[in-house]
Amino acid sequence: MSGANKTGVIPLEELPVPQIPKCLQMRTVTTGLMSYVEAKNFKEYREAAHACIWAPQEGRSNFGEFRAAVMMHLRFDGTFGFPGGLIKPGEDVVDGLNREMAEEIGWSLTDHPVTWTDYYSTQVEHSKKMILHFFITRVTFDQFTSLERNCPLALEYGIEVFGTVRVPLYTMRNMYSGLPAFLNNKFIGTAKQQLLLAMYHTNILTEAEINDVIYKSQNLKLGPSRF
Ligand code: APR
Ligand code: MG
Repeated sequence: MSGANKTGVIPLEELPVPQIPKCLQMRTVTTGLMSYVEAKNFKEYREAAHACIWAPQEGRSNFGEFRAAVMMHLRFDGTFGFPGGLIKPGEDVVDGLNREMAEEIGWSLTDHPVTWTDYYSTQVEHSKKMILHFFITRVTFDQFTSLERNCPLALEYGIEVFGTVRVPLYTMRNMYSGLPAFLNNKFIGTAKQQLLLAMYHTNILTEAEINDVIYKSQNLKLGPSRF
């Protein structure tokens, strides 16, 4: 696969390797990070693609400021992750991602499929012989809520996927509840770091805020009464 992608907009050779903010420069994020084209050299590796779907959301609840609606899902293995999955041999990565998202969360925005303009990063995991592509896709808030309503109708609902969740992006007054607490769930692979990278890339959270939330989430030991 070379030259322009389907939209004719971005030559795949020019897909950039993202700048990783200092607070997320950890081995799980930086090891095997390479360009999309470079990863294609690992011909015998399997490929997977996942996407962070988000929508702008203004306003606040009693608990804090919304900032955005960000979608993750509960997987069959009890961990949180992003919709997506294995690309079939010979299948275009973006086609495979849209297919997986239709199966897993009823992704039905035929007028707004994931495209190469949503591409964010590629990470090669040599131990698993896997190439992992990550996309970040912005939709409208109406599209987001319609995706949430569709999820229980998806083919894989109750099998591979046990529902979508919205990520709480605020930190409550006790300095732990909200996003710091959410980050103490179990996540598949590097999904937790991908969530924070997506928040950084979309300017939903600043680097200082990400630093702060990582610190607060690590203060879990201060006691369950923090809920
Ligand atoms: N970061 C890193 N790795 C990830 C992430 C992530 N955010 N999300 C998933 N992976 C890894 C998983 O560990 C898995 O090995 O990518 C691989 C494929 O992703 P899945 O979404 O799990 O693949 P999917 O095609 O949806 O499911 C395939 O996997 O274990 C089997 O039987 C299970 O039917 C399922 C199959
Ligand atoms: Mg999957």
